[in-house]
Amino acid sequence: MSDSYFEHDVVVVGGCGHVGLPLAIAFADRGARVVIYDVSEPSVAAVNAGRLPFDEPDAGPVLERVVAGGRLRASADPAVVGTAEHVIVVVGTPVDEHLNPDQAAVPRALGGCAPYLRDGQLMVLRSTVFPGVTALVEKMIAGLGADVPVAFCPERIAEGKAMTELFSLPQIVSARSPQALKRAAALFGLLTPAVVELSPEEAELAKLFTNTWRYIKFAAANQFFMMANDAGLDFERIREGLSRDYPRAADMPGAGFAAGPCLFKDTMQLAALANNNFALGHTAMTVNEGLPLYLVSRLEQRYDLGSMTVGILGMAFKGGSDDIRSSLAYKLRRVLEFKAGKVLCTDPNVTTDPRLLPEDEVIRQADLLIIAAPHAEYRDLATDKPVADIWNLLGQGVVV
Ligand SMILES: NC(=O)c1ccc[n+]([C@@H]2O[C@H](COP(=O)([O-])OP(=O)(O)OC[C@H]3O[C@@H](n4cnc5c(N)ncnc54)[C@H](O)[C@@H]3O)[C@@H](O)[C@H]2O)c1
Repeated sequence: MSDSYFEHDVVVVGGCGHVGLPLAIAFADRGARVVIYDVSEPSVAAVNAGRLPFDEPDAGPVLERVVAGGRLRASADPAVVGTAEHVIVVVGTPVDEHLNPDQAAVPRALGGCAPYLRDGQLMVLRSTVFPGVTALVEKMIAGLGADVPVAFCPERIAEGKAMTELFSLPQIVSARSPQALKRAAALFGLLTPAVVELSPEEAELAKLFTNTWRYIKFAAANQFFMMANDAGLDFERIREGLSRDYPRAADMPGAGFAAGPCLFKDTMQLAALANNNFALGHTAMTVNEGLPLYLVSRLEQRYDLGSMTVGILGMAFKGGSDDIRSSLAYKLRRVLEFKAGKVLCTDPNVTTDPRLLPEDEVIRQADLLIIAAPHAEYRDLATDKPVADIWNLLGQGVVV
């Protein structure tokens, strides 16, 4: 890559985030000269000091190495956008409080960089976008009079697996012109030999279908769990029985909180695209978002919650993570704060919530424990207190 006349091969806009930073690290580790542009000054400072602003397994030592080797640096100055041949944009694309996608999120972020775009760059959209955003960005750039083709190459890693999946998953690449497609394929070919070419419109849907498919599968399992549980049966015994040596059911997930910053909001982006005629997606949302409510209502039938201290174990949105964005453990806490005598919470990974207590204190004070995030640490939980464990971490079944 280094024969280009740009100072850097890659600039990652939003590159201090959960997706942008592992990507920037991965490119730098493969020899690219990488710079990050991010509006978060504390995160920029952390990255330049060789520190991850959040937990991502195996990324820390590589970050240290590439920063020390001068192959990666971060800046809060948008002027760095003009220094790189490839401009990868991976800012957040949330839905709002009414579940509307924000089609302008990526164009807005690019607005701040627009004065620095230079002819000959390739713009690569990596955020998960509402369908049509690639075309919108193409129009925006054409309006600037810049000769900067646009590619859409969605990120498909799962948080916590970035440093393996970036090098193992096939990369979906898309662009309008064969030349731009070739450049995008060459860029991501640095990470993995398997590149899948689609049109931008196909790739936009491919990303949303991927996350929505997963969200619907979790919802089906959660609905089955509630049905079995209402019948007094253990869904895990049923699931284990039906999937044993039976390949067509091998991918049936267990019950659990399906949460986090992606699955719900991307299902809602797809629903908005379908003018809200997406019964399957909306139903998946009500099932998954309803699970903490179901859990509390079941516990209410068995216990006098109002006189009890309830301990929540695990506040991250999934096992092994420190990320609390859109975590259903917080919804559980909110509902219990209304119903229970007292609610205490703990998490071995989360560092951003000052209300969390040490695990032993929560276990000691609680009358009832609920595992809300399936952290591996809880597999060895030793307590004589009742534990609601819809994940079957303790291997004692999931009946609540
Ligand atoms: N988190 C995941 O597991 C995951 C997986 C695949 C795809 N995605 C998609 O990737 C995108 C980013 O998600 P994320 O989880 O990394 O978000 P994030 O919030 O962790 O990171 C976004 C970063 O962008 C920065 N930023 C915001 N506005 C900016 C601007 N105008 N200019 C420069 N920097 C700006 C923020 O400071 C932050 O560091 C989303 O579209 C998401 O749907 C996420």
